Amino acid sequence: MADILHTSPAQPERIPIHASRSYDVVVGEDLLKDAGRYILQAVSPSAAVIVSDDLVYPLYGQTVEASLRKEGISVLSWTFPHGEDSKNASTLFSLLEFLAEKGLTRSDLIVALGGGVTGDMAGFAASIYLRGIPYVQIPTSLLAAVDSSVGGKTAIDLNAGKNLAGSFYQPRLVLCDIRTLDTLPDQEFSCGMAEVIKYGVLCDPELFALVENGEARLYLNDIIRRCVSIKRDLVMQDEYDTGSRQLLNLGHTLGHAVEKLSGYAVSHGSAVGIGMVAIARCAYAAGLTDADCSERIASALASYGLPTSCPYPAAELCQVILRDKKRSGDAINLVIPRAIGNTCLHRMKVDKLEAFFQNL
Ligand code: NAD
Ligand code: GLY
Repeated sequence: MADILHTSPAQPERIPIHASRSYDVVVGEDLLKDAGRYILQAVSPSAAVIVSDDLVYPLYGQTVEASLRKEGISVLSWTFPHGEDSKNASTLFSLLEFLAEKGLTRSDLIVALGGGVTGDMAGFAASIYLRGIPYVQIPTSLLAAVDSSVGGKTAIDLNAGKNLAGSFYQPRLVLCDIRTLDTLPDQEFSCGMAEVIKYGVLCDPELFALVENGEARLYLNDIIRRCVSIKRDLVMQDEYDTGSRQLLNLGHTLGHAVEKLSGYAVSHGSAVGIGMVAIARCAYAAGLTDADCSERIASALASYGLPTSCPYPAAELCQVILRDKKRSGDAINLVIPRAIGNTCLHRMKVDKLEAFFQNL
């Protein structure tokens, strides 16, 4: 715990990531006004397109634009309606057409300014436009700060399910300005807390203990650094998600099914929380998990106002899970919490899933 509760240094911290590409995640306060300077340390574009949604751009777009112009980079912006409903092929292709119409070249840059929807879609566009151009992530939601901006997974949703088209494509820089979270609505903050709680359950009981009573805002700076460091370790071990990185999917197999069945009315963070409680309950019933694990996870989520019970029956969820990209052949890897801070991958035949999920 002492390790987490140190007084945060005023200086921004650089957390280096070495994957197929090496880059830094810079975490600190009031960084946006210097975004251009940080970007030039990582890449040298002559032009940049800021991709953002219609809520985030009015808050932070001008600051980022001005900082890029100050460094001699010419800037365009492209915005889309906020929310998961926009994370689809139609929005992606509108963005690609915009990039082509404006003549962006391979030595230019995409700047993803926003939450996970913006980062996933802009990152995917960067990976396929001209067969790949550089991009940087500037996360502005807690979820994006602790998870989606780091590690290079990009995606859009297809009609059949979440994140079914995408790529592994690392950014050149992640610039996380914690002050942007000041404008994040409470409900969105809570969604990010589901992913923070996930990291605690995954491998960090001290982090879990720090946040389980609803007091995460007191330690935000340190919590973000801690989560990014955990993700860094897993991405560096297994960039392409064939082994240990799959642990980050704790709560996601059921969570993605809940999101899809709700028509994306249930947010990603809420759905991941529901998924974590459900898998812990089912794993306990199967003799794989400590008795108090699901209760502690549910209580931690509830302390941020997050839902904890699953609104869909096992049979409906299993129909969706069969189309999950994590399925291979007739089996799927489930992430099982054995105890808080101790998780494992558990391969299960898909025809056993419905019985396993009866104890949701
Ligand atoms: P989001 O991008 O839709 O942001 C949530 C809401 O918060 C939006 O309405 C947005 O406009 C608003 N917002 C963001 N920053 C704000 C700020 N500073 N002030 C005011 N409003 C702000 O969604 P999200 O919760 O950030 O991310 C969820 C997405 O991330 C999902 O699509 C999920 O699949 C994806 N995801 C990806 C990864 C990955 O590794 N690539 C990991 C986890 C989640
Ligand atoms: N959020 C899951 C991953 O990045 O692997």
